[in-house]
Amino acid sequence: MRTSPLGTTGPQVSALGLGCMGMSALYGAADRAESIATIHAALEAGVTLLDTGDFYAMGHNELLIGEALRTAPAARREQALTSVKFGALRDPDGGWSGYDGRPAAVRNFAAYSLQRLGVDHIDIYRIARLDPDVPIEETVGAIAELVEKGYVRHIGLSEVGADTIRRAAATAPVSDLQIEYSLISRGIEDEILPTTRELGIGITAYGVLSRGLISGHFTADRQLGADDFRAMSPRFQGDNLRHNLNLVEALRKIAEQKGVSVAQIAIAWVLSRGPRHGTDIVPLVGARRRDRLTEALGALDVTLDAADLAAIEEAVPAGAAAGDRYPAAQMAHLES
Ligand SMILES: NC(=O)c1ccc[n+]([C@@H]2O[C@H](COP(=O)([O-])OP(=O)(O)OC[C@H]3O[C@@H](n4cnc5c(N)ncnc54)[C@H](OP(=O)(O)O)[C@@H]3O)[C@@H](O)[C@H]2O)c1
Repeated sequence: MRTSPLGTTGPQVSALGLGCMGMSALYGAADRAESIATIHAALEAGVTLLDTGDFYAMGHNELLIGEALRTAPAARREQALTSVKFGALRDPDGGWSGYDGRPAAVRNFAAYSLQRLGVDHIDIYRIARLDPDVPIEETVGAIAELVEKGYVRHIGLSEVGADTIRRAAATAPVSDLQIEYSLISRGIEDEILPTTRELGIGITAYGVLSRGLISGHFTADRQLGADDFRAMSPRFQGDNLRHNLNLVEALRKIAEQKGVSVAQIAIAWVLSRGPRHGTDIVPLVGARRRDRLTEALGALDVTLDAADLAAIEEAVPAGAAAGDRYPAAQMAHLES
């Protein structure tokens, strides 16, 4: 497995990270034993970065990762780096009620995450969304204190814009920005990516398959439960979905010509945006089954030459997707 430093101050990480969210929440039912087997298989394949959020099914995802780490061989456990998001406030019925980035809340969230994960430190710690009532300097400053005390190793950011990135980086070293980036979510290219590159901050890209939409496996007749994020996501609705799946069919032709899968093309495209430009972009793939993980890892062997990249660009030009990447209420929490 290829590894590289995450930004100029972050840890050395594998070329692909594993996003564990879907093993607990937001994409319908997941199989616990298969989820843990997938984490073990990822570690076995050399994946080092495991991403979670304390609010993914209210601690469920951290407990799951904790169990996977406990039951992994010692060498695999030691290579694992935990990337944890905090700050989202939940209700017992699963509702969402804002974000809390106050220093006392940061310390509280961290104390609980360490227990649930069963670790003595978190490798990268970040607030999931900016708390509009708390200056980012205070939130990042509180994480920096946790770094000083050894409870956290690195500070990350999530879904914030260029101004907040600069303010955070002026407060303490920032390893990476976690943000949505894919063939159909290219919003970071104009301002955010140049800013992170200028400041030596890495990108951990999520939604590289646009939550399965551009994986090549999603079909228009798929039934989504009421608690599935995609049941409310604009890109998965009616005409938008039909339009977006047509883009996938255009990608499928390119994939077939290369003898690879659509998901592999989509992941390889994100990988291709990194090293060529000087800073690595690490895709966090949301595999929750071993077969999906194997497919995702196969993207590391896909080389896209200039002709491939031109064909992909023609099939899915920037801005080609129909529908916003989040419902309106959630778009309001994004600076990015
Ligand atoms: N910072 C943030 O705001 C934020 C937001 C969202 C997510 N994240 C993090 O980023 C991670 C990845 O995000 P995501 O889950 O939306 O990413 P994704 O990789 O775009 O989507 C994952 C979905 O794609 C489907 N899929 C189909 N083929 C796949 C393959 N070969 N490999 C992987 N998935 C495949 C899976 O569906 P099936 O399992 O049904 O096949 C899964 O539900 C999350 O787990 C989370 O840790 C961060």
